[in-house]
Amino acid sequence: MSIKNTSLPWLNLPNLPLPLKALFVGYLLVVGVGLCMAGLQIMLTHGMADGKVGLSVNDIVYSYYGDRSGTKLASKLNGSMIDKAPVEVREDIIKWAQQGAPESEWEPHFKDVFAKHCIMCHSQIPGIPDFTKYAEVKSRAEVNTGATISGLTRVSHIHLFGISFIFFFTGLIFSFAVHIPRRIKVLAIAFPFCFLLLDVLSWWLTKLSPTFAWLTIIGGIGYGMASTYMWFVSMYQMLVLSRNGKVYGNAWEQDL
Ligand code: HEC
Repeated sequence: MSIKNTSLPWLNLPNLPLPLKALFVGYLLVVGVGLCMAGLQIMLTHGMADGKVGLSVNDIVYSYYGDRSGTKLASKLNGSMIDKAPVEVREDIIKWAQQGAPESEWEPHFKDVFAKHCIMCHSQIPGIPDFTKYAEVKSRAEVNTGATISGLTRVSHIHLFGISFIFFFTGLIFSFAVHIPRRIKVLAIAFPFCFLLLDVLSWWLTKLSPTFAWLTIIGGIGYGMASTYMWFVSMYQMLVLSRNGKVYGNAWEQDL
């Protein structure tokens, strides 16, 4: 379509009226900082889930599926508490913990075992569990099954509602870009929504089976890349491309 005959020839990112540009640039700036913060937050909370710095498939498995191989009690007795009791005692406790630490064996047996080896610290030092109490021992004998269903439901709906708003406005702004083939525009605008659904779906699937953890990474990278692309193109066209004084014509009309 010829640019000369077009209606609203200013309806494109480089030629937008200044107030609208201020609105779009302001929005994109805040969303850009927000996305960086989100990335940082993911690194700090999920990235450290397996105890090592950096996000890995393991972290995602740990966050959503949990570590079902053992209990806190077992991992501590093989870790930082290894020197607190002889091996037979530690194995005895670990076996009991793996059976779910049944209370029937607490009074007759394990209460004394903990009294002998553990409570000189675990009832004296503030901030660590008090092992004179069965409930405190029991809670360290539970298998870590990762995210809870109610937790997942909460995070899922916040994520879907909140992030789709970000993608909606980012996509709307990007739809005024010029010189981008219509096909690419459609893909860049649609991708984040698809990957967002994939991302949230992958949390639920990972809760069921750790083999789906890589879907979370693909989903995250996918919408991260699509929105970063739209962000940079939009900012560039509004702030840099606009300086050459050219009239680009109605971007929406050109996409008809
Ligand atoms: C000399 C003191 C001391 C003794 C004895 C001791 N602990 Fe600990 N324990 C600690 C300290 C300090 C921590 C916190 C630091 C850490 O997690 O390594 C801790 C942490 C733990 C934790 C992790 C608690 C949590 O929820 O974070 C478990 C489980 C544990 N100890 C089990 C035991 C058991 C079982 C025994 C007895 C066989 C034992 N400890 C004996 C000092 C002790």
